[in-house]
Amino acid sequence: MAHLYISHSAVDLDPLLKLHEALRRAGISAWYPPSPEAAANTALVREKMDEAFAVAVLVSADAMRSAEVQRDIELAVSRGVKLVPIRLDKARPHGVVKHHLAPLMKHHMDDPQAVTALIEDLRSLYRRRCPVLAVMNLKGGVGKTTLTAQIFGAYQAEHGSRVLLVDLDPQYNLTQLFFDMVEADARAERDQSVISLFERSMIHATGEVSPASDWTRLSREPFNLPDLSVLTHPLLGADGPPGRLDLITGQFEISKYAFATDAPALAAIKANFLGQVEALRSQYDLIVFDTNPNATFLTQCALEAVDRVVAPMHPDIYSLRGVRLLNQVIREQVAADLAPDLSVMFNGVQRREQSVFEADARNGIFDARAGFELSKALIGTAIPRSNHLVVSPPEEDMPQWRQFVVHHGRGGGLRPIRDSLNLVASELAALAAKHTGEGRAAA
Ligand SMILES: Nc1ncnc2c1ncn2[C@@H]1O[C@H](COP(=O)(O)OP(=O)(O)OP(=O)(O)O)[C@@H](O)[C@H]1O
Ligand SMILES: [Mg+2]
Repeated sequence: MAHLYISHSAVDLDPLLKLHEALRRAGISAWYPPSPEAAANTALVREKMDEAFAVAVLVSADAMRSAEVQRDIELAVSRGVKLVPIRLDKARPHGVVKHHLAPLMKHHMDDPQAVTALIEDLRSLYRRRCPVLAVMNLKGGVGKTTLTAQIFGAYQAEHGSRVLLVDLDPQYNLTQLFFDMVEADARAERDQSVISLFERSMIHATGEVSPASDWTRLSREPFNLPDLSVLTHPLLGADGPPGRLDLITGQFEISKYAFATDAPALAAIKANFLGQVEALRSQYDLIVFDTNPNATFLTQCALEAVDRVVAPMHPDIYSLRGVRLLNQVIREQVAADLAPDLSVMFNGVQRREQSVFEADARNGIFDARAGFELSKALIGTAIPRSNHLVVSPPEEDMPQWRQFVVHHGRGGGLRPIRDSLNLVASELAALAAKHTGEGRAAA
């Protein structure tokens, strides 16, 4: 479970204990370095910050002079963690505090009412459950994997937030965009991969047999969310762009569930998966699944976990059929109170097609054939067909974040592609924001 990270100077111990006590009464867990040595240990601080739902900074004259507090603020900004400053005195903000925290200063520790308001704010951040999206279409090759990477790479760059991509497709093409096969398979061999969301594995318990090793065995054992640094892989790396864009890598072995017939075991495995996604929701700002093109147990799991399905489609009647089937599966296979919303976006549109098929779709001509109001579900911007979006395998020694088109620089005709990725990302951000909060599991 995520905690509040508290950054403070070594002399501000009384307000620290006061805040800690108020948090304890509110049932919010907190973490702060237990000793000066721990405070100086940047690797530990970084790990604890990555697990935090927010960083509270006790702002005082001493704190503004503290190298550790300044480092904490800069680290939180670079890791995309929300900052909540709390003033302890009247010292005028300067330096890093002024730069990053001045616009956020609204809490003061001396005023009991302000402390109550602060705890309320922290409580709602603590309970916040980030939106979960699936990029899905029951038609293959429409750009699901490409757009999962490129749109949400753009989303992360634009919104500086913490995004988790999950490769739920047994073809694991999303993983192969960032890893060569040998590296990807090595992660899977250690269970540092998607199967660990479904079954208890070697990363949950020492001596555990890998669930990938035996396709006939389905483990119903419950397990807790492991250390994120073991389960997820940071695509932006330590020297990449700020924020977090992590990947849970995929593997072929999750195909085993398609062959299984033990319904109670599958139900337990689905519950494990839903529980793990739920636990991950407090540690990211957005979670996105790339999914397989055929309807399987994995599709069912994804549909029950997500708030919204984003379906890429080509501007042709075959894709229209795929979207029609997808809508049908959502309506028929998922309980009404769990059914995710559906957004559709055009991908690979060429100018000529854009003027005809796309315009017709936007005008509602295909709504009846789609079996739902496709015209209302369409994202306003189409992603054009472009060589910049053609998948290329990772190059040796190239940082993984370079695979994101938004980080390719500006020249070479990239601008229209970046613009369309950014527009789609912004529209999806607005739609995703509707799903933030108490959400479906609480309902
Ligand atoms: N907008 C685009 N412009 C040019 N090429 C594209 C575009 N979108 C996708 N592609 C290319 O189309 C091919 C299929 O894309 P992708 O693998 O993303 O589809 P998919 O829906 O994930 O496929 P699958 O159903 O097999 O998982 C890839 O070679 C990719 O590079
Ligand atoms: Mg794919």
